[in-house]
Amino acid sequence: MRTQVGIVGAGPAGLLLAEILHRHGVESVVVERQSREHVLSRIRAGVLEPTTVDVLRENGLAGRLDREGHVHDGVRIVWAGREGFLIDIHRHCGKRFVAYGQTNLQEDLFAAADRRGAAIITEAADVRLEGTSMVWKNGRVDCDFIAGCDGFHGVSRSSIPAKGEYEKVYPFGWLGILSETPPLREIAYCHSPRGFALASQRSPMLSRYYIQVPLDTRIEDWPDERFWKEIKARFPREWADAIVTGPSIEKSIAPLRSYVAEPMSHGRLFLAGDAAHIVPPTGAKGLNLAVSDVYYLARELAEHYRTGSMALLDAYSETALRRVWAAVRVSWYLTTLLHRFPDASPFDQRAQEYELEYLESSERAQAALAEQYAGLPL
Ligand code: FAD
Ligand code: DHB
Repeated sequence: MRTQVGIVGAGPAGLLLAEILHRHGVESVVVERQSREHVLSRIRAGVLEPTTVDVLRENGLAGRLDREGHVHDGVRIVWAGREGFLIDIHRHCGKRFVAYGQTNLQEDLFAAADRRGAAIITEAADVRLEGTSMVWKNGRVDCDFIAGCDGFHGVSRSSIPAKGEYEKVYPFGWLGILSETPPLREIAYCHSPRGFALASQRSPMLSRYYIQVPLDTRIEDWPDERFWKEIKARFPREWADAIVTGPSIEKSIAPLRSYVAEPMSHGRLFLAGDAAHIVPPTGAKGLNLAVSDVYYLARELAEHYRTGSMALLDAYSETALRRVWAAVRVSWYLTTLLHRFPDASPFDQRAQEYELEYLESSERAQAALAEQYAGLPL
C-alpha cells in the first residue's frame, strides 16, 4: 500500500489530521494499535478552547458539539473555605469555551471518517517506523510523510535523534470519576489543605470530578462513598452541599507530568499531540494542544502538496512549540498554585496562599490568567 501521509495513532490528533488533510485533497492512512471500542472507551479531557471549537467548525466537525456542548464564560477558583472568584474569560477576552468530552469528539471524528470511507487500520500489532514507512505485524504502508500522533507511549518519538527533553514529574496524581448526576453550575478548581479538587462536567446529567491523590494510590481503596466524602471535605460548605452524589460509571487515576520533546520533527517525520508533549490536566490544555499542532501540520502539508515547497513544513516544530510552551507554562503554574505539595516548606505554603490572595484581589492578574486559559490565537 502507498499513501501521501502515514498517520500513527487514531486518537484526536491522528483522526483530526486525517479529516483536515482530506478536505485539502491530501490522502492518508491511519494505523492504530488498539480497537476502536478501546479508543472510544477512554475517558479523558473535557474542556475545549475557543480556537479548538473554531478549527472543528471550519472543518465541518462541530455539528453535535454545537448542539450538545455546554458554553461557559469562565471558571471558578475556590479556596480558604470561601465562595471563590471567577476567572471571567468572556469579560476579559471576549471569548467563551465549551465543555464537551473527548469521548464525544472521538466519536464525531470516527463518524466523519466512516462517512468518507477513510482508511483506518485498527488493532495493528507491533507498529514501527522504517524511514517513511509504517510497518506492523500484518502490513506495511509506504508514505511521503509520517505524522506521529501516537500519544505519550507511542513509537514515533524515538525516531527523532538528538532531541532535547524537558520534564517535570509532580509528586501526586488525579483520581477521577464520572457519574450520571447533574454537575455544578460552574467548572470549579478548589485548593484546600486536604489537597486539590475539581468539579467539571460532560453534559446536564453527566459530572466529572477529580481529587489530588498520592502517587501510590490504588483505585480499589476508593469506593464511591469514600470519594464523595473526600471531595465534599475539600470544597467549602456551600459548594459541598451542592454536589449531587451517585454511583460512578468510570474511575481512573492519572499521574501528573509536564514533558516536551524538541524539535517536534525530523526530516519527513512530524510529531503532534501527546506524542511530543504532555501537560498536567490542570488548565485542560492537552487536547487543545493536540488540535493546534494538527492545525499547523495539516496547513503545512497541504501547502507542500500545492506548491512543492518545504519551507512551512520545515518551520513546523518552531511554530507549534511557541503554543506548546505557552500551555506548558500555564498548566505548570495552575498545578503549582492549586495543589498541596507533600514536600512544601512553611515558606512555600505561605507564598502559595499569597499568590492565591493576589489572584483573587487583582483584576489584572485575573485578566492575564483568563487570556492564558482561553488559549493563544493560532
Ligand atoms: P492520544 O489520545 O493518546 O492518542 C494516541 C493514539 O495512538 C491512541 O489511540 C493509542 O492507542 C495510539 N497508539 C499508541 N501507540 C501506538 C503505536 N505504537 N502504534 C499505533 N498506535 C498507537 N487532557 C485534558 O485536557 N483534561 C483531562 O482531564 C485529561 N485527562 C487525561 C487522562 C488520561 C489518563 C490521559 C492519558 C490523558 C488525559 N488528558 C487530559 C490529555 C488528553 O486526553 C490528551 O492530551 C489527548 O488525548 C491527546 O490526544 P493525542 O491524539 O495526541 O493522543
Ligand atoms: C477537566 C476539566 C478541566 O477544567 C481541567 O482542567 C481538567 C479536566 C475535565 O472535565 O476532564
